[in-house]
Amino acid sequence: MSQALFDLNGRTALVTGSSRGLGRAIAEGLAKAGARVIINGIDPARVDATVAGMRGAGHAADGSAFDVTNEAGIVAAFAGFDADGIAIDILVNNAGIQVRKPLVEFSSVEWRRVIETNLTSAFVVGREAAKRMIARGRGKIINIGSLASELARPTVGPYTTAKGGIRNLTRSMAVEWAASGIQANAIGPGYMLTDMNEALVKNADFNTWLMSRIPSKRWGRPEELVGAAVFLASGASDYVNGQIIYVDGGMSAAM
Ligand SMILES: NC(=O)c1ccc[n+]([C@@H]2O[C@H](COP(=O)([O-])OP(=O)(O)OC[C@H]3O[C@@H](n4cnc5c(N)ncnc54)[C@H](O)[C@@H]3O)[C@@H](O)[C@H]2O)c1
Repeated sequence: MSQALFDLNGRTALVTGSSRGLGRAIAEGLAKAGARVIINGIDPARVDATVAGMRGAGHAADGSAFDVTNEAGIVAAFAGFDADGIAIDILVNNAGIQVRKPLVEFSSVEWRRVIETNLTSAFVVGREAAKRMIARGRGKIINIGSLASELARPTVGPYTTAKGGIRNLTRSMAVEWAASGIQANAIGPGYMLTDMNEALVKNADFNTWLMSRIPSKRWGRPEELVGAAVFLASGASDYVNGQIIYVDGGMSAAM
């Protein structure tokens, strides 16, 4: 099979929340496949440091700091891309947060913050990207879901609700935009070693439960999402639409 199928040279990818964790690993993977990547996060200094690190590694990278829950900031960022002649060919909606507590203890303010950061952001950033992709007749959108797109665990109610929404937002994007040459798909990571899971990684009881559930018997590494991301960003997936690919060591396949 030709490597050209997965070649991202000449493509520009915006990855939200990419100054650390899974977003950063995905951004590096897309850059290694040839894409120019735009690093996003809330903190401009962290975004700049990530861009510098990526450039130091020989990758084409730029930064765009904005909060994915701030619609005016998102609209302004895309207006800036237009003004600079930057066309976003690939969008990865990765930014997200987790808040853990029993459902009866969540305030509606906390609920909305999780939904807006993990779900509404993907709609708003996706809408701004898609308007331009539709005009150009092509584009790739990759939403980051979770095992929580399918299944629930106690104490992560709003997150589970948002990630279930990501699964159906992905389908909605696909059915509305497929005829315009856009593929919208999702990746559902399993339990990955990132800062978001710091408390769980240190929790011996949780680890015992987790290792009893994951057929691969280990946590995932952020760079293990790169294969799925490059596939969904490249011509190799041009007839794949509205799907969610689980990268979870087999966890969602196990009873
Ligand atoms: N780590 C896992 O095991 C796991 C599993 C399934 C899904 N996910 C999902 O993967 C994505 C990345 O998670 P991670 O583990 O790398 O977490 P992380 O906390 O390490 O990284 C999340 C990134 O999003 C950024 N971010 C948060 N709110 C933002 C906002 N309002 N605007 C812009 N950026 C913002 C953060 O600054 C950070 O860089 C999330 O959507 C998460 O739900 C993670």
